[in-house]
Amino acid sequence: MKIDALKALLNEMTTEEKVGQTIQLSADFFSDQSEDITGPMNEMAMTEEKKYQVGSVLGISGAKETIALQKRYMEENRLNIPLLFMADIIHGDHTIFPIPLGLGATWNPDLIKQTAQISAKEASAQGLHVTFSPMVDLVRDPRWGRVMEATGEDKLLNKRYARAFVEGYQGEDLKEDLTKLAACVKHFAGYGAPRGGRDYNSVDLNENTLREHYLPAYQEGIDAGAKLVMTAFNTIDNIPATGNKRLMRDILREEMAFDGVLISDWGAIGELVPHGVAEDNKAAAKQALTAGVDIEMMSAAYSEHLVDLVNQDETLKTLLDESVWNILKLKNDLGLFEQPYRGANETTEKEAVFSNENKQVALTVAEQSIVLLENNGVLPLKKDSKLILTGPLSQSTDLLGAWSWKGNREQTTTLEDAMAAVANPDVFSVIDDRTFLEGQNSFFMDDLRTADTVVVALGESSEMSGEAASRTNIKLPENQLVLLRELKKLNKKVVAVLINGRPLDLSEVVPLVDALVEAWFPGTMGAEAITNILFGKVNPSGKLPMSFPRSVGQIPLTYNEDSTGRPMTEGKRSEKYLSRYLDAENTALYPFGFGRSYTTFEYANLTLSSQKISEDDGLQVSVDVKNTGDVKGLETVQVYLRDKVGEVVRPVKELVDFKQVECAPGESKTITFEITEEQLRYSHADHSVSSDAGTFLIGIGTDSSVTLSASFELEK
Ligand code: BGC
Repeated sequence: MKIDALKALLNEMTTEEKVGQTIQLSADFFSDQSEDITGPMNEMAMTEEKKYQVGSVLGISGAKETIALQKRYMEENRLNIPLLFMADIIHGDHTIFPIPLGLGATWNPDLIKQTAQISAKEASAQGLHVTFSPMVDLVRDPRWGRVMEATGEDKLLNKRYARAFVEGYQGEDLKEDLTKLAACVKHFAGYGAPRGGRDYNSVDLNENTLREHYLPAYQEGIDAGAKLVMTAFNTIDNIPATGNKRLMRDILREEMAFDGVLISDWGAIGELVPHGVAEDNKAAAKQALTAGVDIEMMSAAYSEHLVDLVNQDETLKTLLDESVWNILKLKNDLGLFEQPYRGANETTEKEAVFSNENKQVALTVAEQSIVLLENNGVLPLKKDSKLILTGPLSQSTDLLGAWSWKGNREQTTTLEDAMAAVANPDVFSVIDDRTFLEGQNSFFMDDLRTADTVVVALGESSEMSGEAASRTNIKLPENQLVLLRELKKLNKKVVAVLINGRPLDLSEVVPLVDALVEAWFPGTMGAEAITNILFGKVNPSGKLPMSFPRSVGQIPLTYNEDSTGRPMTEGKRSEKYLSRYLDAENTALYPFGFGRSYTTFEYANLTLSSQKISEDDGLQVSVDVKNTGDVKGLETVQVYLRDKVGEVVRPVKELVDFKQVECAPGESKTITFEITEEQLRYSHADHSVSSDAGTFLIGIGTDSSVTLSASFELEK
């Protein structure tokens, strides 16, 4: 629709119709049983008439269903304004990819973009228009269950993934390309930092940290063109984000130049009341609209009160018009006025979803997401050694993770089946550990005694991470630790495969195993991917996007912490008055960027093209990376930097770039990175972003524990 026609449409709308556009309901309000949801209808201040004025629906899917609802809706809607259909396509639609934390471990944004393209293709064929993804919240606290939905603790990595997701979902021409979805960057802002790791809890970030570490990934998603942003449940500066005018209007709209649709998180406008910043839903509606929230998801503040509010207040009337304009523009950008069913098509749907091609990508990405944490030589498995598979997750299809939308566990292979398809049947067997866990351990142990190697699949169930799944104890469940202790007594080689949604405290596990494989929730092709890694068909290359702590007491933990006045350094172990723990190291058990391979890489000849850098001239830093083992391997080469003196305290180290390189055994490659003045900028005391002249330390290595052994000067 031409812009003039769209403006004319806005002018033609009644206040009630405008308010309708700002309301989002879940799909069940439109189901044939909607009479049965009279309670919720009342709660949402809905009537049959108002229902056909709402602007969007969440959680619907299926070409048949979306076409039917759109048709029915448009027949009822006076101005024939189509509905928007939204859903949480987080790490796959039917074809499920690893959870975002696993995707983060690939360090491969191009591959992540491909997963987003597939998600969009599958979902758009079912008639969806918007996905509530990517979640780009930076995370430092694995007690928070939603770390599984994040891509980790580092802003650079998060930025690259944010762009990859948005570009993958939206493509180049959202209007013309019906296989694409509009992306929604969430949760603005700082949702990844809840106090104590408890979901929905308040957030206490100083503004410098917020700007320096947390905002950049949202900004990158916006710069990549994301059409929507979702508000966060939490507070920023003690004001809930959803009613925070400074955050939404001054920072998001003005500074960050976001001009799309701002949608509340589920019920978050209504939650301004229990937060205690609004007396009732009416005050909440006023606060949220004033802050600039365009769509209210699943609470009744707008639906109950906006009409009255705007009728009494000209300023609010203008704000309502702005919001409705944003929503109509989004519908227009998706081409819905011309094609209200957009990509929905039952035939394409059948071809698009869960195709072999999509599954192949799911396999590749799952393989690349797996991180080898320990290996004393037991992996890859030898095909003729006697192998036993056990553990609570060995026969499980709970491999998809908490946000696996249309993922079907019945179409998910268990590790038992995947391994049986590859292993030599004469030497492979599976023992159900439940016999052991039920206390009949002698029978179980007798069977195990004949094995050379035991593969034990451990971890969390998918309900143990994700939304509203915070934990204070992030160890493996006690029965799994008991199992490992018993296995250790048998003197067998033990390979633990972990399937879980967060960095776990593995301190007790490490001494009990010969190899440790972090597989996250690996998705549709997860069991096959794990099997390929275990048997060496694929050499592991995943690198942690988030630190694994030694103990829960270290949390929040991040490799790029701020410098302290009393740093703990190697030479000072005997000193007391330092920033340290009495009972643990400061460092992570497995640091950010860490991951082993079946081969080894040697780094040598760190070389800088110049000792100086300026605003006009950057420098090149290079290193030779040699594969010193006997299999081909993929290494992620990481560059870290430290700004020695800043106006505000700077991180002890920060990732500034990375590249992946594949080397054959014995092969050496020189990897070169460009360093420019732009990479040295940071948020100053007045929140302006610039660099300071002075010394920078730099290092290139295999993970964030690298020593920064070279330096250069920025001249201004
Ligand atoms: C979550 C969002 C999600 C929304 C819609 C909320 O509870 O916080 O991330 O997009 O529900 O399902």
